[in-house]
Amino acid sequence: MCGIVGHLGTGNSAELVIQGLERLEYRGYDSSGISFVDDNDNLQMFKKAGKITELKKITNKIKIHSKSCIGHTRWATHGLVTDENAHPHMSENISLVHNGIIENSTELKSELLSKGYEFKSETDSEVFLFLLQDCIKETNNFTHSVSNAFSKITGNSAFVILNKETSDIIAVKRGAPLVCGINNIKTDCLVASDAYALIGLVDKIYFPEDDVVCHISAQNENVLKFYEVKDWSISKRYKSKAQDRDFKLEGKGKFDHYMLKEIYEQPTLIRGLLDYYLNGDGLSVLKDSLKITPNRINITACGTAYYAGLVIKDFIETKMRIPCSAELASEFRYKNPILRSDEVGLFISQSGETADTLAAQTLCKESGLDSISILNVDGSTLFRESTKNLLIRAGIEIGVASTKAFTQQVLTGHLYASGLQGDLEDTKKSKQLTDKYSLLASRMDDLLDNTDVIKKVAEEIYNFNGFIFTGRGIYFPIALEGALKLKEIAYVHAEGYASGELKHGPIALIDESMVNIAIVGPELLEKTVSNIEEVRARKGKVLIIGPKENNKLQDISDFFIPLDFDGLDELSPLYVNIVNQLLSYYMAKFKGTDIDRPRNLAKSVTVE
Ligand code: M6R
Repeated sequence: MCGIVGHLGTGNSAELVIQGLERLEYRGYDSSGISFVDDNDNLQMFKKAGKITELKKITNKIKIHSKSCIGHTRWATHGLVTDENAHPHMSENISLVHNGIIENSTELKSELLSKGYEFKSETDSEVFLFLLQDCIKETNNFTHSVSNAFSKITGNSAFVILNKETSDIIAVKRGAPLVCGINNIKTDCLVASDAYALIGLVDKIYFPEDDVVCHISAQNENVLKFYEVKDWSISKRYKSKAQDRDFKLEGKGKFDHYMLKEIYEQPTLIRGLLDYYLNGDGLSVLKDSLKITPNRINITACGTAYYAGLVIKDFIETKMRIPCSAELASEFRYKNPILRSDEVGLFISQSGETADTLAAQTLCKESGLDSISILNVDGSTLFRESTKNLLIRAGIEIGVASTKAFTQQVLTGHLYASGLQGDLEDTKKSKQLTDKYSLLASRMDDLLDNTDVIKKVAEEIYNFNGFIFTGRGIYFPIALEGALKLKEIAYVHAEGYASGELKHGPIALIDESMVNIAIVGPELLEKTVSNIEEVRARKGKVLIIGPKENNKLQDISDFFIPLDFDGLDELSPLYVNIVNQLLSYYMAKFKGTDIDRPRNLAKSVTVE
């Protein structure tokens, strides 16, 4: 989704902003731009469709020096991917960048058109620019105009505005992520849509709440101040935390892509997660979340996090027999769900900024439910809004296709379900958990050391027409996740189905151009084999991922990826999933797609 960076201070603002935008490239975008006040107090703007390298081709040709700059990476919502639609948008005295959607932009635009404003873009963002400009024309007061204009728009948005007169930067948001940070000596201040852009550049980071203005001032000793947008009274509605200046961002290392690096990190992360929750600071956090004893658990999430939710639902229901639902947050939020205050909302998210998941949380909170979140980003909006948080400790996930976050989400959910069952208080059961997690990590290590079979299969199948992933029981969500991963990065049609559902429709698709990627666990093996035979009878190609000791599976498949399920029990879906991750990765590599930044996708989906 769109990325925002702004800087004011002693450093070279334009350079810092472009660096920040490059850090946010992983979020997904289609154009970029910057605007700054130059040494002669002129407001300038450069923007270009395409990658940031296209923008840099222009900015590198000129020597920019500026102490105040804003920048943006756009992920198109209103209007095509063109230079004009890229941000910033600029009038005589103001330029601005915007994340989110102005829902009433059509009405506002017609009013502004009737007043003679000439739009250069098709975006809703430019509507806010002229709305602000119009308020300034009426009141001749910049701050009041920001309040007025902001009160007139609906929907979730974050704006960062650069004022030519003062070189000040104003940032304000409602329902969209925004953070700002400052160095210890208070000379340099940054604002961004993602704390990742600020790492190593600031000593303190602030998370303003909705309707709070961050005023970054060039005029004043106190470079960063917070105000209520409605009346510009001083605001205390923000959280802050210290930021480790020495934290170094890791690159891809020996890997060709972040996605592959992140797949390989999984065994180490699993060991770290267990240690944190059984022996480290996480134990008290986990125990604290277990003090909430719900009569029912409502899981909501999106995409991969939703599939993790389906696995976690199974853990909770099997271990605890507590009724548990798992729903797509985008559906749940508009369903008028039956919610009672003795239930819990369980939210799963890597970013903690997914708009639909946040809306589902708001709905639960309005009905008096406590919210527990399983999430990666400490300090994210979801984190701040939750009663309890269980961090998945996956580290920064850069690849748009979520891999390690899924594994860590499922395991954090597993620890939560095990805790509800009382396993954490029982030495024998805790030891069993440790053994099982170690076994999973070491099986994954072995698999990651020997990927030749998976690579070979990927090479044989990547050109087929379509892929149907199938699985039963706990492997069904893994089939869904496998298909999602393949679609996302290899741009091929893939569907996930419960094995038994195939004959209720999708079997019509089966012919020699289709591949059935059949996940066969030790449970219900014979039933799943019957479903595979149905595919074979219709000339479909079959790739089986199944128990290594079962020779029959080898005989009935065109391709076989043997796995050692022994002892993994309910954690075996994660072991299978790593095969799916690698298959998608290598198929995408053979196809030559942009694996870390697949087309049209955004890492963090902050609009609904
Ligand atoms: O940040 P979240 O976990 O809330 O994101 C949810 C989905 O947008 C995300 O999982 C998406 O489906 C991924 N691209 C999947 O690889």
